[in-house]
Amino acid sequence: MTGPSATPILEIENLSVTFQRGGRPVRAVRDVSLRLLTGEVVGLVGESGSGKSVAMMSAMRLLDERRAVIAARRLDVDGRPVTGLDRRGLEALRGPVVSYIFQDPATALNPLLTIGRQIGEGLRRHRGLSREAARRIAIDLLERVGVPAPERRVRQFPHQLSGGMRQRVMIAMALSLTPKLLIADEPTTALDVTVQAEIVRLVQTIQRDEGMAMVWVTHDLALLARIARRIVVMYGGRIVEDAPADRLYAAPAHPYTAGLLASTSRLDIAFADQQPIPGSPPDPASDPQACAFAPRCFRASDRCRAERPALETRADRRFACFHPLPEPSP
Ligand SMILES: Nc1ncnc2c1ncn2[C@@H]1O[C@H](COP(=O)(O)OP(=O)(O)OP(=O)(O)O)[C@@H](O)[C@H]1O
Ligand code: SF4
Ligand SMILES: [Mg+2]
Repeated sequence: MTGPSATPILEIENLSVTFQRGGRPVRAVRDVSLRLLTGEVVGLVGESGSGKSVAMMSAMRLLDERRAVIAARRLDVDGRPVTGLDRRGLEALRGPVVSYIFQDPATALNPLLTIGRQIGEGLRRHRGLSREAARRIAIDLLERVGVPAPERRVRQFPHQLSGGMRQRVMIAMALSLTPKLLIADEPTTALDVTVQAEIVRLVQTIQRDEGMAMVWVTHDLALLARIARRIVVMYGGRIVEDAPADRLYAAPAHPYTAGLLASTSRLDIAFADQQPIPGSPPDPASDPQACAFAPRCFRASDRCRAERPALETRADRRFACFHPLPEPSP
């Protein structure tokens, strides 16, 4: 197993992404800064619509840029800016440097091509392998991700596989060029709990073997407890807390994180005075000069309703809150 090293694989500074919807700006990502080291595993968590996917897709330039306005002081992957990359530059980035596993295999798998052809495509393009050599590697990869009878599967089409098998195929595709950074965007949400656990174990094993950096995106803090050493929490397009996982689970600083933990029944964490979060997430078209969480926050004060808290760094954590939860006394 290779641990994280001090070289950053992902450096995002002051990223904002805005869409236009019905003539109104949808501020999907607001001033996000995030640094991930080589080999580091980070969990990215937040309610639906908090901007997790848009932030991560920006790093691979996967957004439709006719519709999304992306602004960033820095957006570097493996030490190189991804803004301004042309088609060839993007091809060199996607696969060998960074890979994305989508929540829904239908987004990534082509229904008209065999499994073997799809897994082998990147190998042929980037490594110049013959069709037969790529097919052999595709079989090995399928075996590694736990697909039974891989020699037969490579000749099949996506619709001939179950949801769990398609997800494994997508993981095999994402790993085929051993990327330095893997972004796993809710890859298990659509699967039943047993298959989910198997996929998590599989990705973890491969991550450790290859020393890959990984961002695991999810709604589910309980799941992240098994995966990530560091957790980043998003709310309304912004990062509101970023902390080592053990510290965040034991003593969240941000009331939103505490609310997420309180609504996570599978975690054995006592928050006797906490309740699941009332209310709903902020309107992505609004841009209040206030804390976006104030309408739902049990600690909100007049200041919170008049001023937006900045994301501040204290020791090994960052949080954006005027009235953070107290650290438990030792
Ligand atoms: N192509 C698009 N056009 C317009 N708005 C978009 C587009 N993609 C995302 N958004 C909006 O951007 C915001 C953030 O979306 P995003 O998909 O990043 O959320 P998420 O945190 O990944 O949510 P989920 O957990 O449901 O996947 C949402 O308000 C969403 O509606
Ligand atoms: S700044 Fe105020 S409203 Fe926002 S999370 Fe902190 S206490 Fe709650
Ligand atoms: Mg998403």
